[in-house]
Amino acid sequence: MEKAPDAARAVPAPAVVMSAVRYRWPRAAADCLAIDELVLAAGERVFVRGPSGSGKTTLLSLVGGVIQPQAGTVTVAGQALDRLSAGARDRFRADHVGFVFQMFNLLPYLSARDNILLACRFSAARRARLRARNTSPAAELARLAERLDLGGDVLARAAAELSVGQQQRVAAARALIGRPGLIIADEPTSALDADRQQAFIDLLRGECAAAGAALLFVSHDLRLARHFDRVLDLARINRVAALTEPRP
Ligand SMILES: Nc1ncnc2c1ncn2[C@@H]1O[C@H](COP(=O)(O)OP(=O)(O)O)[C@@H](O)[C@H]1O
Ligand SMILES: [Mg+2]
Repeated sequence: MEKAPDAARAVPAPAVVMSAVRYRWPRAAADCLAIDELVLAAGERVFVRGPSGSGKTTLLSLVGGVIQPQAGTVTVAGQALDRLSAGARDRFRADHVGFVFQMFNLLPYLSARDNILLACRFSAARRARLRARNTSPAAELARLAERLDLGGDVLARAAAELSVGQQQRVAAARALIGRPGLIIADEPTSALDADRQQAFIDLLRGECAAAGAALLFVSHDLRLARHFDRVLDLARINRVAALTEPRP
């Protein structure tokens, strides 16, 4: 159900709460992540830094409910993910979380337009949120496309035929359409030059602010951190890293 009691609506639940989470990959000899607590307030924009291999993508997979921790809980928008069946978790993710992946993960043979609209087709909640604002997926697509500088010719083309920069903007539109409360971005700027990185982050921040969405952005590039409300160092919040890091 989309409806929440008035009291719950007045104070929005945190976008993310991770509590006493431990995660170990199958067949790995040691835990990958051990996080006592990580809270992302509603609408907050947080940058998580960490070197390659430190567990950033794993962290986002846990928050998105793509993988399940062996211990602890992950709660997104007030919903404990471990309380959901696998199918319900997939639906919850489609409704409430927008992903922008490192390699964008667009469906190559579909047009840019259909890649974006698919996010609404799979989610009644995204469509309902647009309806509540007197708009539609098609109108919201047009607004985002304008904002993201995606012309009609680009929208009509198959995703596989787009430049990296265009694919990245299509991926952002797909994540944002239908106003999910949480946007998760996994090094989305790593394939871009510095000017385009800046423009892309400005855009992502602006759209998240306008939609009241929280933004969880991970990168190994600390130069991007200044654009965010808060910076978290994964090595500091991950007790596994603290335990295994060589002492100076
Ligand atoms: N699908 C997987 N199966 C097994 N181990 C994995 C998998 N994905 C990542 N890992 C391991 O988890 C650790 C963290 O990886 P990852 O979360 O991808 O780091 P980052 O995104 O910071 O580069 C690495 O040691 C990596 O080898
Ligand atoms: Mg990664």
